[in-house]
Order: sequence, then C-alpha cells, then structure tokens
Amino acid sequence: MTEDSDLPGVSAKQDDKLPILAFTVILCVNLAIYINFFLGITVLYTHFFYVPILLAGMWYQRKAVYVALLLGVIHIVMTYFSHPIIENSLTGVAGGLIMACGRFAIFIAVAYVTGLVSEERKELEEKLLQAERLAAIGEFSSGVAHELRQPLGVISNSVYYLGMKLKEREKEKEVADEKVKRHLAIMEKEVKRANRLIMDLLDFARMPVPTLKVCNVNQIVEEALSSIEIPENIEAKKELKETLPTIHADFDQILRTCSNLIRNAISAMPEGGSLKLKTEEEKAKEKEKGNIEISIADTGEGIPKENIKKIFEPLFTTKATGIGLGLSLCKKYVEAHGGEIAVESEVGRGTKFIVKLPGSE
Ligand SMILES: Nc1ncnc2c1ncn2[C@@H]1O[C@H](COP(=O)(O)OP(=O)(O)OP(=O)(O)O)[C@@H](O)[C@H]1O
Ligand SMILES: [Mg+2]
Repeated sequence: MTEDSDLPGVSAKQDDKLPILAFTVILCVNLAIYINFFLGITVLYTHFFYVPILLAGMWYQRKAVYVALLLGVIHIVMTYFSHPIIENSLTGVAGGLIMACGRFAIFIAVAYVTGLVSEERKELEEKLLQAERLAAIGEFSSGVAHELRQPLGVISNSVYYLGMKLKEREKEKEVADEKVKRHLAIMEKEVKRANRLIMDLLDFARMPVPTLKVCNVNQIVEEALSSIEIPENIEAKKELKETLPTIHADFDQILRTCSNLIRNAISAMPEGGSLKLKTEEEKAKEKEKGNIEISIADTGEGIPKENIKKIFEPLFTTKATGIGLGLSLCKKYVEAHGGEIAVESEVGRGTKFIVKLPGSE
C-alpha cells in the first residue's frame, strides 16, 4: 500500500479497495460462467458485470474503462464458446458476437460516464473541504492576529522609546553604543515583519474591499522597492514607463502585492541575481483604456511545473519559514481590482510575475 498512487485521486485508502474490486470481478465472472454454461440462461449474466464496472467508476473514476474492457473481452469470449447454447433472435456465432460487441460498447460507456460523474463529485467534495478548512483557519487566524496586535504595539512603542533614550545618551556622552543600536534595529525589523504577518492573516480571514483612488503605478512600484532591503548580491533594475496613465486602485493593496512579489523574488535568489521591475501600458484595440502591466522578474531558482498550479493556493509554501499567504493575497487583491496575475517560470532560470490592472477611463 503506497501513499502516492499513480492513479489520480487514488489515495492509500483507495488502494484497499483494489482487492475488493478484484474479488467482485472474479465473483461476477464465475457467476456468469455458472449461469451461462451450467444453467443455460444466456441473457441474464451480463447484468452482473455492471456491479464491478460501477464500483470501479465510483472508486477509480475514468480508469473504470479498463475494468469494462476486461469484462467486455470476457463477455465476447464467453459468447463465442457458449454457442450453440445461445438462443436469441439473431442466430449463429456471428449474431451472438455482434450482440456481445454491442454490450462491450455499453460497458465502456457506463464505465466512462460513472467515472466522469464520480470525478466531478470528488472535485466538488475537495473544494468544499478546502473551503471549510480555509474558513476555519481564517476564523482562527483572525482571532490570533487581533490578540497579537496589542502586545506588538507595546513592543513597538518601547523600541521607539529606547531608541530616543539611546540618542539622548549618545549626545550626552558623545559615544555611540553600536551593539544596543544594532539590537534595537533588529527588534524594529522583526516587529515590522510580525505586523505584516498580522495584516496578511487579517486580510486572509476577511478580504477588505479595495478603496479606489487615483494612483500612479510607478510610484507604487518605487515605494514597494524602497521599503524592502535588497541584498548586496542582487541587482535591482527598474524600467518604469514615464508616460504611464494613472489608474483607480487601492494604493495599499497594490503596494502589498508588489512587496510580496519582490520579497518572493529575493528569497528565490539566495546566491544573488537580478531583479527587474517593469511597468507598461498594454493598449486595448477597441477600447480607449488599456491595461497597466507590472512585471517583476527574477533570475532565481524558478518554480517546478508541478507547483505552478498550487502557488496561488492559500497556505502553499516550499519555504521553511513561509506561511504561503503571500501569493494567494496578491491574487485576491488584483482580482478585487478586476485585474489578473500571471506567472512564467523556468526551473534554474527564473520567474516572472505579471500583474495586469484595468486602466481608468
Ligand atoms: N519568484 C519566485 N521564485 C520561485 N518560487 C516562487 C517565487 N514566488 C513564489 N514562489 C513559490 O511559491 C510559493 C508560495 O509563495 P507565497 O508568497 O504564497 O508564500 P511564501 O513566500 O512561501 O510564504 P509567505 O509569503 O506567506 O511568507 C513559495 O513558497 C515558492 O515555492
Ligand atoms: Mg511570499
């Protein structure tokens, strides 16, 4: 029994069902042989074959077609050998075989349709489960975030007070206590990080409606970049279109989108590399207003194909200290503006995120 089965959607639990299915197939074939060859009833036995086909459809989705193929072949062989016992309107071996082929096709169709229905039900169940899980996490995290806000505020005030006192003492004694200064800076940085996490958790729990105001996208990108410490081994390049029209957007939400994408890009380049921020206007042909595009590209580790679909899901992370909220929030923010976010990535070469925001009339 393996956790990772090659059958899509087949978990370890479903592997337990394989012996049951195999047993049902064997039982039905034996019953069919008995009814057909010993009782001489040739029309009844094929109905038994629907039991394993339906079971396979329910448990293994469209893979049930293989069970239908197997049973269809068994049925054709049995029809061939049961002749001349066969008594039906079509006479001769050929007639029996034509009917058997018809049933064969019905087996496949039943297996396919059952598999399809079961697949859809499974997807729906997974979505429902995911939604319930996220709602529970959201409720929990918003409670925790509220509780943490107050002590963090107190720490932040104390850090500010100590910083001031330190400056005063420096003036009096005219010596700088570099070690204390460094530790205060660390505390300030970590409090900021914790506050950011709290904001993320609160936004994850209840998506705030964007407050639209006239914004300059270049200014947002500049501010996002300046708010993040870029490591020395990373070269940041800007290619911001000067004549970019303003748009109606929530400054803070787009700023946080850009900051998240920049932070991700930086952590994808631990050995260094280049970070490119670009803005441009994508002119729509018929409409006056075009899309505003922000692209954030890195030359980092890239994203494996199997992860591309998952990166925008909440709580998906490959980082030891990550939470997996960043990209899911970026998507929420951008979509709340009527925009979209896309990703292009190649493992070992880098990643580019493109944010498209609708332009204003
Ligand atoms: N520029 C990038 N290059 C390579 N992988 C990336 C990049 N951006 C995102 N990813 C992948 O997508 C995952 C999800 O990113 P996301 O920002 O949602 O969460 P996180 O960065 O892991 O944690 P958090 O942002 O909550 O601190 C990351 O763990 C990483 O595997
Ligand atoms: Mg992130």
